[in-house]
Parts: sequence; C-alpha cells; structure tokens
Amino acid sequence: MIGALNHVAVVVPDLSKACRLYESAFGCTPSPPVAVPEHGVTVVFIELSNTKIELLEPLGAHSPVRKFLERNPAGGIHHICLEVPDMDEAVDRVAGAGVRVLGDGSAAIGAHGKPVLFLHPRDCLGTLVELEEA
Ligand code: CO
Repeated sequence: MIGALNHVAVVVPDLSKACRLYESAFGCTPSPPVAVPEHGVTVVFIELSNTKIELLEPLGAHSPVRKFLERNPAGGIHHICLEVPDMDEAVDRVAGAGVRVLGDGSAAIGAHGKPVLFLHPRDCLGTLVELEEA
C-alpha cells in the first residue's frame, strides 16, 4: 500500500537560518518560502534526489507546530510523509489495523495541493505519519 517517502518534515525556529545551513553545509537550493496560513506554517522544500525535506516555521499565534517548537527549541523532525495510491483504501486499511486518523478522519488538501491526512503518533511507533495521495 505504501509508496515512496514523499518528505521528512523538520520544524525550525528560523527558516532563513535553516535555509542557509542547507545551502552552505549541504549545497542544496531551498525553494522560496511559501506561507500556508490555513496550516499555520511557512514552508520551504529542499529537493533531494530521492525525496524532499520540508522545513516548517510556525506562522501565527495558533500554529499547530508552535508547541512542538516549545518542546524542541532547536527544532526537530516533526513528521514523515508516505505516499499512498488511494486515500480511501489507505484509511480503511489503517483503521482496520487499529491506527487512529487525526482530526475528523477525512483528508484535507495539503501544502502540495493533494489530499493528506495524519495518523496518531501513539499508534505509529511514536512518529507522526502523514499520508499523501500521489
Ligand atoms: Co508534511
């Protein structure tokens, strides 16, 4: 059911500092930052040959990643995103395996314009897992 690793998301306290690190230390070319107010984040993508790194900076007072940053002031890995070919089928399957879907259980349109949803980290080995239909 699971396809490729779409991205690994890292929450950072300072997006421009994070971009400079990826440029100077790793020789990457970060995408221009995109504000996604409906998700409370500003996003930069680093394209790698086999996947992406998604750098997330909190946007707004009610950003869902602000608490994460309070617990991890230097930043840290926030979630992994796995591709699935069919979201409805994926939801049936994970639910059948006892894995809880966060929110109302239905997919929202994510930062890439595709349906996404998140699985409960307690049901996924302590890791927040995002599924993206791709
Ligand atoms: Co993501």
